[in-house]
Amino acid sequence: MNKRSRIFVVGSANMDMVLRVPRFPHAGETLAGSDLDLFPGGKGANQACAAARLGGDVRFVGCVGSDIFGTQLLESLREAGVDISRVRTLSRATGCASIYVAPNGQNSIVISPGANAGVTFEHVEDALGDLNSSDFVLLQLEIPFETVRLTLEKARSAGATSIFDPAPARKLDRNVLQLVSLLTPNQTEAGMLLDKENVEDEQDDCDLIRLASETLNLGPASVIFKLGEAGCAICSDGAAARVGAYPVKAVDTTGAGDVFNGALAVALAEGRSMPAAARFANAAAALSVMRPGAQASIPSRDEADKFMTANPDVVVRDLLTVRG
Ligand code: RIB
Repeated sequence: MNKRSRIFVVGSANMDMVLRVPRFPHAGETLAGSDLDLFPGGKGANQACAAARLGGDVRFVGCVGSDIFGTQLLESLREAGVDISRVRTLSRATGCASIYVAPNGQNSIVISPGANAGVTFEHVEDALGDLNSSDFVLLQLEIPFETVRLTLEKARSAGATSIFDPAPARKLDRNVLQLVSLLTPNQTEAGMLLDKENVEDEQDDCDLIRLASETLNLGPASVIFKLGEAGCAICSDGAAARVGAYPVKAVDTTGAGDVFNGALAVALAEGRSMPAAARFANAAAALSVMRPGAQASIPSRDEADKFMTANPDVVVRDLLTVRG
């Protein structure tokens, strides 16, 4: 049997402070919400926990503070099965996120980077010293941008596969995006990358093929648009496909995109095709929105596999060829 590919997640860890609210507050308004919940989160740690719970061989590279939140975040990663030997503890506050969750499961998030701002490329170099072409490297944008850029360069020169989640949304140069093996924006992030408004409204196949073509022109080798309750769309190797969404009732969408990326990495590391991996990722993300919290909502491998078997109607549908 082949040795499993390793999955390195370089990114943030936050303690999520969550309030359920009747609606999002306006500027200057005070609203009453639920009791406070604390959940382990952070886009990087969420992706690492998801990949490990779903069967991946995962190492997390990041920083926490020397406080109780840092200890709790490390415990959550360890419990999920993530190797945390490359995590550094800094003498500053652990990253936090203040999250409002509306009754329809949508959220609004403000982050305080704290120790995440201390993830340096020197740390990554040390942690990824033996990176090779069978490895996967997952990145997001909650650590210093220069660290992300240099890590993408390192992944490219080692021949590793990089899966880059451009979240939180920001503009990115072509010289960064062309280092990326697989880019996974949601539509807000795609709109930011393409400098376009109202990309959220563009959901039909023709719109998505055009958006994918424009996004590929920015440099990544492949792109998957995460479309939330509309599933996802893939553009890779000159072909496009759409994967339907699993029918679930969302109670909290926090971290669903992270679960998608973690699951995607696991399936690709197992040698599955991009469409098959995207279908698995959709299933894992769908399961996660039915429960509150980011890491607390991640399904097990067994749960995801059974869910897919129980929902055979969610299929991959081929679209058009997009690159000549
Ligand atoms: O993607 C969801 C995550 O974004 C939350 O867990 C929060 O910590 C923010 O980083």
